[in-house]
Amino acid sequence: MLQYEARPARRVSGVVEVPGDKSISHRALMLAGIAEGTSEVRGFLSGEDCLASLAAMRSLGVGLEQPGPTHVVVRGVGLRGLKHSREPLDMGNAGTAMRLFAGLLAAQQFDSRLVGDASLMKRPMERVAVPLREMGADVRTHEGRPPIDIRGGRVLSGIEYRLPVASAQVKSAILLAGLYADGPTTVISPALSRDHSELMLSGCGVRVEVEDLRVRLHPPQALKSLHFTVPGDFSSAAFFIVAGLLAADGELWIRNVGMNPTRTGLLDILRRMGADIEVSNTRESGGEPVADLRVRASELRGIEVPEALVPLAIDEIPVLCIAAACAQGETVIRGAEELRVKESDRISTMSAGLRALGVSTAELPDGLRIQGRPGAAFGGATLDSAGDHRIAMSFSIASLRAAGPILIRDVANVATSFPGYLEAARSAGLDLRVSEAQTP
Ligand code: S3P
Repeated sequence: MLQYEARPARRVSGVVEVPGDKSISHRALMLAGIAEGTSEVRGFLSGEDCLASLAAMRSLGVGLEQPGPTHVVVRGVGLRGLKHSREPLDMGNAGTAMRLFAGLLAAQQFDSRLVGDASLMKRPMERVAVPLREMGADVRTHEGRPPIDIRGGRVLSGIEYRLPVASAQVKSAILLAGLYADGPTTVISPALSRDHSELMLSGCGVRVEVEDLRVRLHPPQALKSLHFTVPGDFSSAAFFIVAGLLAADGELWIRNVGMNPTRTGLLDILRRMGADIEVSNTRESGGEPVADLRVRASELRGIEVPEALVPLAIDEIPVLCIAAACAQGETVIRGAEELRVKESDRISTMSAGLRALGVSTAELPDGLRIQGRPGAAFGGATLDSAGDHRIAMSFSIASLRAAGPILIRDVANVATSFPGYLEAARSAGLDLRVSEAQTP
């Protein structure tokens, strides 16, 4: 089992670049695969999650080449050109891949089976199966979890569906199935969630109407190919944003970060806490806003995080907890029950880890209460990331305020979303090493 040893460090500085956006990379492969002609995607995230999507598209008969690690050429087979995969499609650790593929495959003429790793096999899948069945698909889960078995050859109807949770994955699964329906499909969300599918489908020439929380997709004849560069992943940049704020000293630049407003809730939250973050050189890449960020050491204060910002910062809550633990006063995070069904139960893994560092934390059913202690260093400790990439990276950032080494166990899954994290963190000034842990 791999572990990180994060030794105390005080200064972060220089320039870091983060890998391509995970959500956009998954979607790019799926849409390019069913588009007409050849698509070319640069800045692709060559992390394990997106490589699982790439392997799945290949098994479904799509020609894919990777002339370089972040450069993908996809020979689209058209809306009706996917082929049956003889092997089950293995989504690894990737919840996004499993849920989006469920939507895409529910509409095909052939049967499919979706499986994943031990963590993914425990995650809830009825949330996608229910609306897909309402469209007429034959989708089966096993007590609500994977494997997902799909019987092909169904005619799907367009539906109007109210999502019970603000989930971009479920919204996207329904829209992908809706590409094949006999009429328009409408999804109504209870709150804003990331809108990459809507933007990318429009970019492929599909008629998608968005009005507040309502998205309506009209089934197209065909999808146009994609030619674009994926922006850097805001969720990966988040670790460096918090690092720059917590360091005693230094100024950190993070270049080429995707700034889609449905993703940047963490910026709003941190600014309310008093963070000094400057956004500059805002431009566009592939229909998404991109910018460079400059972060400086800041004295943070605890806040009650507005619930409306939670879905816009859902993957950043673990690292927000580290910032909160260093802020003056209490931070309360509520409305985040979705964290319980991510790669780990992030409410309980974060609160256990924070307590091990000496932080007073209360676990709430839908969030956490964290007592910040800006003057006091974290004690050195051994923590368990529960195999969750974002938990592992978040606790490595705590080393900027630690008195002794923090040992973080079970970190191999950092490669699912952030290949090269160790090198990027070291180049910014963290004292981070990886080693093979002795099994107890
Ligand atoms: C994602 C949506 C979010 C997020 C996940 C990626 C996506 O999940 O946590 O990392 O790409 O659509 P939910 O849809 O479950 O909120």
